[in-house]
Order: sequence, then C-alpha cells, then structure tokens
Amino acid sequence: MKGLILAGGMGTRFRPFSHTTPKQIVPIANKPILYYIVENLKNAGITDIGVIVGYTKKRIKKIMDCLGDGSKFGVRLTYIEQEAPLGLSHAIIAGKEFLGNDDFVVYLGDNMLKGGISKLVENFKNSDAEASLLLARSKHPEKFGNAIVEDGKIIDLEEKPLQPKTDLIITGVYMFKPSIYEYMYQIKPENLKEKEWGLTEAIKAMIDSKKHKITYSILKDWWDDAGDVEAFLRANRLVLQDIEHDIKGKLEEDVKITNNVKIGKNTIVKQGTILEGPVLIGEDCEIGPNAHIGPSVSIGNNVKITNTEIHDSVIMENCQIETDKKIGRSLIGKHIKIKKNTQTSHSFILGDNSEVRL
Ligand code: DAU
Repeated sequence: MKGLILAGGMGTRFRPFSHTTPKQIVPIANKPILYYIVENLKNAGITDIGVIVGYTKKRIKKIMDCLGDGSKFGVRLTYIEQEAPLGLSHAIIAGKEFLGNDDFVVYLGDNMLKGGISKLVENFKNSDAEASLLLARSKHPEKFGNAIVEDGKIIDLEEKPLQPKTDLIITGVYMFKPSIYEYMYQIKPENLKEKEWGLTEAIKAMIDSKKHKITYSILKDWWDDAGDVEAFLRANRLVLQDIEHDIKGKLEEDVKITNNVKIGKNTIVKQGTILEGPVLIGEDCEIGPNAHIGPSVSIGNNVKITNTEIHDSVIMENCQIETDKKIGRSLIGKHIKIKKNTQTSHSFILGDNSEVRL
C-alpha cells in the first residue's frame, strides 16, 4: 500500500503565514504538521509515500527542505507537482503515475489526529472494501464533508452543506483501491477554473453506483483540520496535553513550575518566572525574568521573552518579546519582535494580511 499526502492548496485561510510558509509545515508543538503525518503513515507500515506540492518554486522548496527524501523518518518520499490547486481529485490524479495499481491512503496535509492510522490501514488491508473513510463527530459539520450513515453503511455524502443533516464529518484520511479513479473521471467538471474537482463527489458517485463496498470508522480521539489559525491553536492545545515533563535547560532560583513542562537544551529560565504547563520551550531560549508562560504555549528555538504573560499561543523561532501586556490566543511567526511602547500611540510594522487585536 502506498501513501499520498496532499500538501498543495493555497492556504488562503492561513494568511499571513501562507505568504511565506505553506501551512502544512507550520509547527504545532514545535513540529511541522507534515512530520506528524509522515510518522503516522510510517507507523502504519506505509513507507512509499508521494507528496503533492505545487504552484511556486518557493513553496515546493520549503516543503522539500522540511521533509527531505524521507530517510530521517525511515520512508521514501516522492514529490509530485500539481499544476494548480484545482481540487482534491485533481491532486490525486496528479499522483496517479506514482500510485500505479496499488491501494493507497490519501492523507490531507493539514490534518492532525490522535492515535495514528495503523488500525485503520490494517482493517482496510484485511477487508474487501474499495474505499474506507475516517469519520469524526463535529459541532460544525457545515465546514466539512458530511457522511450520512444508516444501519452501519454510508448512504450519502455532502460537501460543506449549508444545512447539515448529521454531525458526522469526513476527516482527511481516506483509503482506496484503484477503482476510485473511474469515479473521479466521472465527476470531472467541464471547466476546472470555475469549479473544483472534489473528492467527496467522486466517493459519492462510487456509493451511488452501488457496485462497491465502502466502509468507515469513527474516530474516538481528537482530530483537527488545522486549516485556519483558530483550529491551529486548538491542535496545539491538544498535542500539548500529552507532552511529558522533561527539563534539559537550566532553571534559576525562584522559578515556579506546575503541570508538564518540556524545556530544550541550552535554554535558561530566569528568576521569578512561572511556567504553567502544559508548556513546550525549545532550545537556546531565554525566558524571564518575571515571565508567566502557559498554559498551552509552544515556544520555538532561540526565543527571548522578558516580563511578559503568555497563554494559549504558539511562538515560532527567533522571536523577542518584552511587553507589560498579556498575550493570548496568538500565533506569532519567526523573527518577530514585540516590544514595550514608550510613546502614547501604538506603533505597528505589519506585513500583508496580518491581524492585530487591541
Ligand atoms: O479536513 C477535512 C476536509 O478536507 C473534508 O471534510 C472535506 O470533505 C474535504 O473536501 C477537505 O476540505 P478542505 O476545505 O479542508 O480542503 P482544503 O482545500 O483545505 O485542502 C486539504 C489539503 O489538501 C490541504 O493540505 C491542501 C491540499 N490540497 C488542496 C487542494 C484544493 C491540494 O494538495 N491540492 C488541491 O488542489
């Protein structure tokens, strides 16, 4: 069985980050989303993996630099360019030559889930199903593909319906036998510039044909589509729940720690600082004096934070933060400086599509 990770798309809901970094490699708990995905595939015994990338040389290079040839994960990665983000079926068809006649797992490059996919893959391998979907329950089914299930069978699918009939949604992990291609071609829109070539519609066509067995399982643990900043922070919170307490850096006197906190080497936590776990701090950081970090904060390498209170946030590498304001629900990119204001008016230097809440 092969794997196909879809890491194209434009990431419009993820601006301004997607201007410089594809969302699939933005770190959650200091690890790019694609790392979690490759690891889940590897743990399920899938080591021959295609990665759909596209549209600009810069985007493609960033993803390739991040994952490399796969050897660091013990897998073999093949990069496949999609000419434009024309839909999930279009992306899979781009990978058709790589997939050949093999069964395959499609894993959407922005999907985070707990518990891996090993059991799912095993069940599919041992079944005579032509397709299998991983479903989850959601409070916002209107944002996803929906699966209408009756008597243990999927009877219908709807992509992002305005009025959902169910709370069961399609996550970004699908398993297929090559018979799915026929249905993708069947639903191919005439004008791809006007309409996306979707995957939900192709699976629906397969269901409607009544010729094949299509199975599903429902995730019991958490799942998230880190498609926008809010979901991204939620995924960060969920991953941090499971970190282990591990302190490699140095703690000065009078540092108070509660719950699990993980600190990388060469990091120093200075006097009067409170670390309220779960908190993850990378290497070569300087935290404090008098900072209050957590809960649910991930801090990348080489970050300096003085005097500041931060909760529920991701701070990427090489940032410097010193302010007397509280920071929360924030996603802060690389090389960002947040400083104290000595003037009466606020001062901003913000790139395109940035967002500030005062
Ligand atoms: O996350 C689950 C949802 O993913 C499902 O519930 C929906 O049924 C499914 O259509 C999909 O919806 P999204 O709107 O979330 O898909 P998105 O455009 O965010 O793309 C998902 C991933 O696939 C993302 O990593 C980008 C990549 N992609 C997307 C398109 C449109 C490609 O590689 N090529 C593409 O052409």
